Amino acid sequence: MKTTISKSAKNVEQTVTIGAWLANKRSSGKIAFLQLRDGTGFMQAVVAKSDVSEETFQLAKNMTQETSMYITGKIVEDTRSPFGYEMQVSEIKLIHEATDYPITPKEHGTEFLMDHRHLWLRSKRQHAVMKIRNEIIRATYEFFNKNDYVKIDPPILTGSSAEGTTELFHTKYFDEEAYLSQSGQLYLEAAAMAFGKVFSFGPTFRAEKSKTRRHLIEFWMIEPEMAFVDHDESLNIQEEYVSFIAQSVLTNCKLELAVLERDTSKLEMIKAPFPRITYDDAITLLKDKGFDDIEWGEDFGSPHETAIAEHFDKPVFITNYPTEIKAFYMKPDPDRSDVVLCADLIAPEGYGEIIGGSQRIDDLQLMEARYKEHGLTSDAYKWYLELRKYGSVPHSGFGLGLERTVAWLSGVEHVRETIPFPRLLNRLYP
Ligand code: 4AD
Ligand code: MG
Repeated sequence: MKTTISKSAKNVEQTVTIGAWLANKRSSGKIAFLQLRDGTGFMQAVVAKSDVSEETFQLAKNMTQETSMYITGKIVEDTRSPFGYEMQVSEIKLIHEATDYPITPKEHGTEFLMDHRHLWLRSKRQHAVMKIRNEIIRATYEFFNKNDYVKIDPPILTGSSAEGTTELFHTKYFDEEAYLSQSGQLYLEAAAMAFGKVFSFGPTFRAEKSKTRRHLIEFWMIEPEMAFVDHDESLNIQEEYVSFIAQSVLTNCKLELAVLERDTSKLEMIKAPFPRITYDDAITLLKDKGFDDIEWGEDFGSPHETAIAEHFDKPVFITNYPTEIKAFYMKPDPDRSDVVLCADLIAPEGYGEIIGGSQRIDDLQLMEARYKEHGLTSDAYKWYLELRKYGSVPHSGFGLGLERTVAWLSGVEHVRETIPFPRLLNRLYP
């Protein structure tokens, strides 16, 4: 019977066949220990000279890393293995012999690994990170589906930019100019007026010249948008959502978190409600901590975010930023027009901003005034203005950066390991 490593628990004491690659190997005179991987997991297979043909034993003993095979044997419980099971091999059928696999079990430099990303993905650590990414995506769909959101797919090729024009990727669209989407938000606002509560999950592109551990050129965003939801209600949704994905990863990715040696006590604390502080109070806090390089009206850099986050063991919302430094569509605080109803959610442990969100302007005249201030008079934004013309309602939304969230929950240092094929400054290959 053909099966997979992930199904081992169901196959205990049965003889099964698994299609697998050799990840690593150890052998002594009469026994070979093969570390197998099949994509679903990792497992040790034990080949005893006395149990197999001489040909099979020699094959096992001399097998090279990443050689592919069909391997047959009995699945037995093994408490020493992190996975809980191992295979007692009776037969091996070679599929393809790999020679000189470049990524050996010894240490390699980052640039070397990045050049070999197409192969590096096979490693145990990368496998664990991608499985956590997959779990966050799965839990995202579960969370929004059970709360009656409709999944909406905004376009990737766009004529209107959401987050300002400096970081756009331009492309030809026949005789017109188009951009790769920076955010689906404007389209999601239109969709929220049609479906009430919507969310998207898709790639976004920013030609940012930032070379930091938090920035990718192409990253994936989850963007919910809700009609009849104000700023405070949106924060409640955000903390419920982030708690849900953190707890899902804790429950469903135990093995992966163990491979990554993630301190899970830090993740256990990620439960709503999250602390909220205003931008004003954050400035005061930073001044108290001795930061004299920041003044009211300036945006925070990552050292500032990290210093604020250190104060809390949960993610923290920084709310009500100055109007001047935020996007044109954010609704001013009704009590104070110099700040807007927005929040950035800052992850603990120095992982930085994982969510940006706000209540949107719903008043036609105010939106028209903002267009003028931002020089957005072209036809590209005409349709967006019309959303305020026909049954405008209070509405809010936010965007969660998937890769930063994966980095945080997995405890990996750099976002380059959190997406299968990262697009970075100076890196378009593989
Ligand atoms: O704060 P941002 O720019 O917000 C928006 O795009 C809104 N239109 C979202 C919305 O309200 N629908 O981006 C949202 C999140 C950030 O908090 C961050 O997690 C992530 O996207 N992000 C990046 N992740 C990786 N690399 C980059 N260059 C990123 N830029 C933003
Ligand atoms: Mg932001």
